[in-house]
Amino acid sequence: MRIDILTLFPGMFEGFLNQSILKRAQTKGLAEICIHDLRNYSTDKHGNVDGYAFGGGAGMVMMAEPIVLCIEELGKERPYDEIIFMTPDGEQFDQPMANSLSLKKNIIMVCGRYKGIDQRVRDHWITKEISIGEYVLSGGELPAAVVADAIIRLIPGVLSDESSALLDSYQGELLDAPVYTRPEDFRGYKVPEVLISGDHKKIDEWRYEQSLKKTEKRAKE
Ligand code: ADE
Repeated sequence: MRIDILTLFPGMFEGFLNQSILKRAQTKGLAEICIHDLRNYSTDKHGNVDGYAFGGGAGMVMMAEPIVLCIEELGKERPYDEIIFMTPDGEQFDQPMANSLSLKKNIIMVCGRYKGIDQRVRDHWITKEISIGEYVLSGGELPAAVVADAIIRLIPGVLSDESSALLDSYQGELLDAPVYTRPEDFRGYKVPEVLISGDHKKIDEWRYEQSLKKTEKRAKE
């Protein structure tokens, strides 16, 4: 899978892409993530990428041209399955959406800043709009990173234990059971006896019960 991210702040992705699972996915050749600086696509004589909103109002709007030029250049190289705009008024991101995006071959993610992007880009180039939650961040970069992480870890071969992505909380109906590791006694707090019993039937039953309890509790909150 290939993900192209269009942003005014490419530096925000540096550390994130080069660590842990996203790094491993790229090294194994299972995912390719390319960051594009929209300032390189400005045709304005001052190198501007944003302007005042027609009709007035506070805040700058990202111009259509740099975004569309970048999309067009990428489109010459390969077909894209989705051109996604990260925006707080988009469709709410969730696990089923991550699952379906993880099956795509090439996607573009456009990160907005300021008051957003010129509506004509949204109307004529963007194919999907995603929000990661009902709150407003200062740009689409963190949301794009969240979505990229959620999708890439689902690609077969990215996680060392493939089955674990499928057993995650939110993949099924139930949330995950609690997990523990060494030591068995941490400052007087003990690991539940059943987990060190070696009785796998009992352990499975315990985990199932704990998952049910946690799911019910969260539903009431
Ligand atoms: N840009 C700013 N806030 C956002 C959010 N909650 N989701 C997606 N993109 C955003």
